[in-house]
Amino acid sequence: VKTRYFKWEVEYVFWEPDCIEHPVMAINGQFPGPTIRAKAGDIIHVDLTNKLSTEGVVIHWHGIRQIGTPWADGTASISQCAINPGETFPYQFVVDKPGTYFYHGHFGMQRSAGLYGSLIVEVADGEKEPFHYNGEFNLLLSDWWHKSVHDQELGLSAVPMRWINEPSSLLINGRGQYNCSLAAGTCKFTGREQCAPRVLRVLPNKTYRLRLASTTALASLNVAVANHKMVVVEADGNYVEPFEVDDLYIYSGESYSVLIKTDQDPTKNYWISAGVIGRKPNTTQALTILNYQSVHGGKLPASQPPVTPSWDDYARMRSFAEKLRTLSRSYLPRPPLSHHHRIALLNTQNKYGGQTKWALNNVSLSLPATPYLGSMSYKLKGAFDPTPPPESFPGDYDIMVPAANSNCTVGNGVYVLPFNSTVDIILQNANALSANTSEVHPWHIHGHDFWVLGYGDGKFVEGVSDKKFNLKDPPLKNTAVIFPFGWTVLRFVADNPGAWAFHCHIEPHLHMGMGVVLAEGVERIRRIPGQALGCGLTAKMVGKPHP
Ligand code: C2O
Ligand code: CU
Repeated sequence: VKTRYFKWEVEYVFWEPDCIEHPVMAINGQFPGPTIRAKAGDIIHVDLTNKLSTEGVVIHWHGIRQIGTPWADGTASISQCAINPGETFPYQFVVDKPGTYFYHGHFGMQRSAGLYGSLIVEVADGEKEPFHYNGEFNLLLSDWWHKSVHDQELGLSAVPMRWINEPSSLLINGRGQYNCSLAAGTCKFTGREQCAPRVLRVLPNKTYRLRLASTTALASLNVAVANHKMVVVEADGNYVEPFEVDDLYIYSGESYSVLIKTDQDPTKNYWISAGVIGRKPNTTQALTILNYQSVHGGKLPASQPPVTPSWDDYARMRSFAEKLRTLSRSYLPRPPLSHHHRIALLNTQNKYGGQTKWALNNVSLSLPATPYLGSMSYKLKGAFDPTPPPESFPGDYDIMVPAANSNCTVGNGVYVLPFNSTVDIILQNANALSANTSEVHPWHIHGHDFWVLGYGDGKFVEGVSDKKFNLKDPPLKNTAVIFPFGWTVLRFVADNPGAWAFHCHIEPHLHMGMGVVLAEGVERIRRIPGQALGCGLTAKMVGKPHP
C-alpha cells in the first residue's frame, strides 16, 4: 500500500480544446487535469488549492465509494464546504477497487467549465485482471460549448429559461476540432496543437484495452472503432461477463473497458468515433485514429468513420444496457434477494415561479448553505428542511402526457435510510413539459455501487414489473440510465455512513434540481476534518466533539 501525494492548483487558463480559444478550468495549468494512476488499496492524497479569484471549488472522485471517508467525496453543500479562493483542502481516500474512474468539479457547473480528469486504478500487486491485454489507452470523453458556464447557468435559471443547446464540439482527452474536419482531411496539424487528436499507436496482432469514461455535460454517446469489434469487460469499475459489440453506448457518468484485437490490415489506419445519441444531434462526431505502427500516424484512414446509429433508437440502447452482467467468476457481490425499503422517484420537468426545473416526486433540489454531512453529524437544526421528501408519487399519475399541473416545489430534505438496509430505487421516467417528449437521464449515485435489476417501458407496476428482475447476475454500476417513458430499478445496501448525492449526471439537469440526497449511518461518524466544515452553521462546530 502506497500513499500517492499530489499538489494541485485550480485556475482558469486560455486553452484551445477544439482549436477555438476559450477559458477553461485547468489543474496545474493542464486541461484535462492530470491523470492519476494508482493500484487498488493505495491511498490518494490530493492537496487542492483554489487559485480561482472569485469562485469556490471542490473535486468529486467519481466512482470511488469513499468507504469511511464521506468528507472526501467532494460535493459542495453535501460532503463539504466549497474551498474558498486561496485555501487548500486535503482530499485523502483509499481507491479500493481496480477500474476506470474520473474526477470532476462538483460545485455549480464547474464540470462543464472543464474541471475534470482521469483516475485509473490498476489491480493490486500480485493480482491479475480477469482478462489479458498487451497495452492500453485511456479515452476521456466530454462535450464542449463556446458559451461560458456563467452564461449557461444564468440562462438556465432565467425566465423564460434559455437552454444551453447542443455542444459546439465533442472532445476525446480534451481534444476536438470545431473549424476543420479530420474526416475530410481539412485539419492541418503539426501534432503540437492543443486540439490535435491523440493518435492511438498499436502493433498488429495484439490485444489492447481501451478505457472509456464519459464526463459529458449533456451528450450521450455511441463509440465505435472502424473494422474492429470490441469486447466489453468492465463497467463503472466492476468486471462484467465479456460480450462482443460493434459499438458501445456510453452516458455521462459511465465508464467502460473494452478489448480490441489489432487483427485488421496493418497497412491501414482506422477511425475511432464518438457521436451523439439520445438527443437530436447537432454536433460533429469526435474522431481519433487507430494507427498500426507500420503506417504513418498522420495518414488518414482510407474508409469513412463509423456511422453513429440513429439517435432515437432507444430499443438498441436498451438492448446494449441489458447485455451487462456481473462477471460470473468474480468476487463481486450479488444482490440480496429482497429489499427492506423501496423509493419510487418520478422524474418530471416542471415550472417554479416561471423558471424551468426538473423534479423528483414534484420536489426540485436546491442545496443548502451548510453541507448535510456536517449539519447531520452535529444534529444542527435549521440547516435544511427536516421533513423527508416523498417516497412515492400518486398512483394515477399518467407518465405518457404532460402533467395537468406542471408546478413543482423546491426543497432540500434528505432521504434517511436505515443503516445496512437494502434499498430499491424505482426511477420512473415521464413526459416532460411539452407533449410527446421524454428524455434520457443517466442517474449516478455517490458512496455506493448499485445493482441494475431491470429496465421497462411505461409505468412500473409493483408486483408485476418486479417479476422481470435479474437477481442472479445484475451488473454493479454507479450510473444507470432511464430511457424515455420507461423505468429502471436499482438496488443497493445502505452500508456506508455519510450523506450522498444521487442525481442525474447531465450537468444542466442537476443544476435545475434533478437530484436527491441520501444519508445513512451518519451517527456512526466520529470525526469530520475541520476544513470540511468551515461554512454555514457548522463553522462554529470545528474542533467540537460530535454528539
Ligand atoms: Cu460525477 Cu455527483 O457526479
Ligand atoms: Cu437528466
